[in-house]
Amino acid sequence: MSSSNATDKLQFIDLKTQYAALKGAVAERMQRVLDHGQYIMGPEVAELEARLAARTGARHCIAVASGTEALLISLMALDLKPGDEVITTPFTFAATAEMIVLIGAVPVFVDIEPDTCNIDATLIEAAITARTRAIMPVSLYGQVADMDAINAIAQRHGLAVIEDAAQSFGARYGERDSCNLSTFGCTSFFPSKPLGCYGDGGAIFTSDDALAQACREIRVHGQSARYTHTRVGVGGRMDTLQCAVVLAKLERFEWELAQRHALGARYGELLREVRGVRLLAVRPDRDCVWAQYTVFVERRAEVQAALTAQGIPTAVHYPRPLHRQPVYAHLHRGPELPHSVAAAASVLSLPMSADLAPRDQQRVATALAQALASS
Ligand SMILES: Cc1ncc(COP(=O)(O)O)c(C=O)c1O
Repeated sequence: MSSSNATDKLQFIDLKTQYAALKGAVAERMQRVLDHGQYIMGPEVAELEARLAARTGARHCIAVASGTEALLISLMALDLKPGDEVITTPFTFAATAEMIVLIGAVPVFVDIEPDTCNIDATLIEAAITARTRAIMPVSLYGQVADMDAINAIAQRHGLAVIEDAAQSFGARYGERDSCNLSTFGCTSFFPSKPLGCYGDGGAIFTSDDALAQACREIRVHGQSARYTHTRVGVGGRMDTLQCAVVLAKLERFEWELAQRHALGARYGELLREVRGVRLLAVRPDRDCVWAQYTVFVERRAEVQAALTAQGIPTAVHYPRPLHRQPVYAHLHRGPELPHSVAAAASVLSLPMSADLAPRDQQRVATALAQALASS
């Protein structure tokens, strides 16, 4: 673990220290791929899928090109028709709604819980129509959404549930794991995610044999056998080399998760009493893997500027809810979504990664408190 001097610029996500710790394992894993030369769908793909399926408890894992592709392929596997509706949250990265729109379906935005920023399950039923086919909650910031309630609604109405778990791989929900809680779980191995690769990657999890088979075929242009195209698919494979990187990273992943939990708890202790900061709520029946350590702050722009001046990078996930984005605004016909709008105006993500040094974390907390005191 490295820590900075008081005036050094901190890293928002420290991937360099992680790489230094895993250099040997990454090199060995990548060299093996270079030696066998099966760059596309090499043995590391199936090895990674087996490891991740076992870790989550899902019967199937399908490694794909990115988290975005995981959402797209899952939606395609459900055979949605143009005009079908998918209920989702507007307070997420664009990919969630983007993939719904891309397949010709309609995202129906439902507001979030103001304390967790996850979709408010109590509002979902009122948004269901005769065209609703699926619900796509997002496990934002690394905390699983209210999946029991969502699954119960889905079961009553015969809907599929796709957990957008891009930020929550490794998170626990009761005795179960994120990605293995519904029809599909979709995660991302984008480098900054809790389990990242060194490029793009992602995975779909399901325990439905037929849907898993559909995803495997869609991943390779809809082929059920070589050059037998039985459905429309995409070029959605994950590179063997990126699978090798994730396999190497798994060696340290449980330690990293423990670090994330400890750092999240410590941020909570350091910031709980700071005036002008509100912490994200974590429900007692689940944990948060803190893909981002996000708080709500007053006077965000001033606070962000003050932190930047002290070499502390921050980010806003996300500054505008999707129902107010130029490309999606016309799709929103439901009620106002005040909690999403309010969250977008006040969330602030602080430096976070498994290798964040305690001294640096203290520096962030102190600088934030000072910024709020003087802003
Ligand atoms: C909630 C959410 N969904 C989907 C994605 C897309 O994942 P990827 O960048 O791997 O395509 C991301 C990544 O940032 C995300 O945060």
